[in-house]
Amino acid sequence: MAVTFVVSNRKGGTGKTTVSVNLAAELAALGLRVLLVDLDSQGHCAVGLGVKVSKATPTVHDIFRRTDARLATAVQPTAFDKLSLAPADTLFEHGEGLRDEGLLKRALEEEEIVKNFDVVVLDTPPSLDILLLNALTAANWVVVPFVPHPLSSEGVKQLMRVLFKIISGTNQQLKLAGFLPMMGNDNIRIHRTVTGDVANQFGVSRLLPIVRNDIRLAEAFAAGKPIRYYAPKSRAAEDFSRLGTFLAQLLPQ
Ligand SMILES: Nc1ncnc2c1ncn2[C@@H]1O[C@H](COP(=O)(O)OP(=O)(O)O)[C@@H](O)[C@H]1O
Ligand SMILES: [Mg+2]
Repeated sequence: MAVTFVVSNRKGGTGKTTVSVNLAAELAALGLRVLLVDLDSQGHCAVGLGVKVSKATPTVHDIFRRTDARLATAVQPTAFDKLSLAPADTLFEHGEGLRDEGLLKRALEEEEIVKNFDVVVLDTPPSLDILLLNALTAANWVVVPFVPHPLSSEGVKQLMRVLFKIISGTNQQLKLAGFLPMMGNDNIRIHRTVTGDVANQFGVSRLLPIVRNDIRLAEAFAAGKPIRYYAPKSRAAEDFSRLGTFLAQLLPQ
């Protein structure tokens, strides 16, 4: 079975999609066979990887509509070695879908997925809906990107409440990989304060290596490429390489 990371925060705009796309690319560059699954119907993972999706393209959301749909049908290769994508359906509406928290977990157990992938990365919507519950139920590790901003602790706290519920319910295997300071800048006092608060509340070992503020990440996204290919010498490429190596240590050697 592939090891599954879920990238989640109950707040929008905290860098979930940026982390999902670039973490997936880093793990693939380390030689792992990676499947990125886009559960957010905004469909941004496809944009970030330069994958064109049409109305006829099978998507991961099919498994939430029909019990006979298979995840493997939605998996497609990308332009990047060892990196595949199960894109999102941009027409999938919030609140839609079968009421079953175990659909994605079972889909990841499909033979073709187990055979072809070492790692799965799940990008999630910020809303607490059946898709997020499916993602948390299917995952082994949670990565929580947060922007060190005064309001960010609220999204983190809301997510932690959901995590405790999941860990004591549908997924006792779920573990916290850590909190990831996104767009952080150590020279900005509020960034230091908020990051320090998270460290105090959850333990300093729960802080993942920071991804600093870098406009090149937005440019890379618009160009449909992970940062390591778009701007390999950038600060963000350096940060994501460090993060990828760090999180790869959580995989069985
Ligand atoms: N480290 C960073 N430095 C600069 N901009 C960033 C960084 N991380 C993310 N962004 C930008 O912030 C915006 C929100 O990021 P995104 O990954 O879409 O968040 P989410 O998926 O949580 O809504 C995007 O425009 C993205 O390019
Ligand atoms: Mg997103």
